[in-house]
Parts: sequence; C-alpha cells; structure tokens
Amino acid sequence: MFTNRYRERLLSQKQAGLYRTPLEIERKKGKFLFCGNRKVLNFSSNDYLGLGASARLQLLVADNFRSHGTSSSSSRLVAGNYRLINEAERAYAAFFGYEDALFFPSGYQANLGLISTLLEKGDTIIFDKHIHASSVKGMVSSGADFAGYNHNSLSHLRKRLEKSNPGRTAVLTESLFSMDGDLLDIDGFCRLKEEFGFLSIIDEAHAFGALGNKGRGLGRTAADIALGTLGKAFGLFGAFVLLSSTLKEYLFNFCSPLIYTTTLPEAHAASALHILEIIEQCDDERKNLLQVSSLMRQGLQEAGVAASGDAHIIALTIGDEKRAGDISAKLLAEDIFVLPARYPTVPLGKAILRISMTALHTKNDVTHFIEKFKKAAII
Ligand SMILES: Cc1ncc(COP(=O)(O)O)c(C=O)c1O
Repeated sequence: MFTNRYRERLLSQKQAGLYRTPLEIERKKGKFLFCGNRKVLNFSSNDYLGLGASARLQLLVADNFRSHGTSSSSSRLVAGNYRLINEAERAYAAFFGYEDALFFPSGYQANLGLISTLLEKGDTIIFDKHIHASSVKGMVSSGADFAGYNHNSLSHLRKRLEKSNPGRTAVLTESLFSMDGDLLDIDGFCRLKEEFGFLSIIDEAHAFGALGNKGRGLGRTAADIALGTLGKAFGLFGAFVLLSSTLKEYLFNFCSPLIYTTTLPEAHAASALHILEIIEQCDDERKNLLQVSSLMRQGLQEAGVAASGDAHIIALTIGDEKRAGDISAKLLAEDIFVLPARYPTVPLGKAILRISMTALHTKNDVTHFIEKFKKAAII
C-alpha cells in the first residue's frame, strides 16, 4: 500500500515536470565536473571563492584530519565539547562581530534547530516568503504563529509588524536570497527594527565569505542572530550561528537538533579556523566574483534574457517547469551545467535557471555560456 502511494506520487512529479534526477558526477576539478567522458563547465556550485576546489585547502583539511582524527564520536553535550571547537567558535564570533557563535553539522540543521527552539507558541514569526526550506521547517516546528510577507517587500513587512506584538515577534529573512539572488535592503530593514523592536534572524548563507568587508556579509547592523554555512564560500561543510552568549547557552540546553547529534570533529574546527584566515585574504577572489557576475548579468540582459540578481547568484526567469528542465538538458548536451530550480524550491509556475558564479569563472566562460544559452532557449 505504501509503495503504491509513493509510485503514484513519483509519477505525478514526472507528469508535472518536477521529478528530480541529479546528475551523476565522477569527480570535479576547479570549475569543471567530469561526467562519463565529458568535462562540464559548472554554473551550479556554491564554492563562490573557489576554496573548495583549491589544493591548498585540501591539504590543510587532510592534515587536520590526520592530526585530530576522523570523528568526535559523541554529541557536543556528552563527550564532544572539544576546546578546539570552542576556540573556533570564539574566532568566528570575533571576526563577524557577534558576542558568540555556535557550530552545527549543517545549515539546514542550524536553521531548523535555532528557529524551532527559540520561538514557541504565543510568539509570532514574520517571514519573507522566499526564505530557505530549512527556516520554513524550523518555523513550522516551533509552534509559533507565522505570517509571510511578499518577497523583499519592506512595506508589506511593515503592515505585518503593525499588527504584531513587538515583544514576541521574530522576523526571518536572508541577506542574499538563495534563489532570486537579490539583496535585502539592510538600511530599510534596520529602520523597521528600530521602530518595532522585533528579534531579527538573518540567513547569510550565500553572503558570508563572498560579500561585505573581508567577507563579513551584509547584515551585521540588522541581525540579532545570523546564520552562515561552511558548505558554500568556505569550501567545507557544517554551519555556524552568530548570536549572544545567553542564546547560545539556551540552545545548548534546549535545542534538540544540537543536543542529540554527533558534533562535527575537532578536525573540522581546526579547518574552520584555517579557512577564516584564508577568507580574510580573499579580496582578489571577491573582486573577480563581482566582475564575472556583473558581466554575466549584463551580457544576458543585453541579449534580451530576463536575468536578475544583485550579486553572484543570477536567476533566469523561465516559468514553465518542463521548459526549465529542457533548457538545462540542452545546455548539458553542450557541456554546461546549470540548475533548473523548480517547485517547491521556487513557487509553482515560476521555474528559473539558477546561475551560481564563482571566482574561478572567467570572461570567456561568461561569453560561452551566453552563446550556448541563447541557442538552447532559442532567443
Ligand atoms: C539560504 C540557505 N540557508 C541554509 C542552507 C543550508 O545550508 P547547508 O547546505 O549547510 O545545510 C542553504 C543551502 O542550500 C541555503 O541556501
């Protein structure tokens, strides 16, 4: 009975153009993926600075695992509270300008854990309708009331705030949106925060490392709590939450997704410390990222493509899910990989191609992409 239900659902996913079949990758090198005998130019990586592809980081991380072992073999709350992890958290807090930091095994777990633990029945969560699925999961699990506001519309957020109890309201947003690629109006958001006094949780997963002074992101003036993942610009895995010491203490005591999971090993913390030093020195990579991203966006717009995004994530509006899948498949046949983002990642009927630029891309890569895209989309 269960199997039939799953088969039927899978079939309807296929019929709606929503079925997911990830590309099988043999290995990656720099900006290329190797699939079968093909070398594919990757426009779907979140390795924004190219650190994950760098030999330097591979050696550092390998050495850290050699020195510190492969596993913490315990929850942080049992026998996994290593000094190195505490040191790394202090370094992250100091670098990003927060009182404290807390590592999680992933950004998904961090959002789920922190939002579902800090908010509860009787609270209200007001959220940008395009926040990440992990934040939505945290919000739904929290027991709080919630209300969405239109994507990046501060006037709509204001309307929601006018009807809320400020002392018990939290607002969830992102600084650089993962799918739309647009930026939060930080100053406008700060003004609302001053006026209404809500708790602000800003997901900087796509901004930390890549944007802001030395990669410090964009939201410091606006965020009470910020989330960063180490799996994107930091070239590793795992995540960090930046917060006050009291909130950290609270999560240590009440956050089930933190308490009941094996903590990331010391080797991870050692690597995170090394990466923080590297990130600070990556001004050239950030400059290149900015340049190739602008070239891509302008080039596409000049070619008449509906391309949007304020930084290194560029969204190409396609609409129909099947068409988005078809264009992506045609590009793959030309050895270019770009993700067709479809429902539920984006709203139904609003499929996009999501281009992720990295510091490894060049001007030639941009020209090549635009040429092939025009053919694939028949412009
Ligand atoms: C905005 C945002 N938040 C959180 C996450 C989750 O981070 P992680 O990949 O570390 O689980 C992602 C990853 O896709 C993301 O885009």
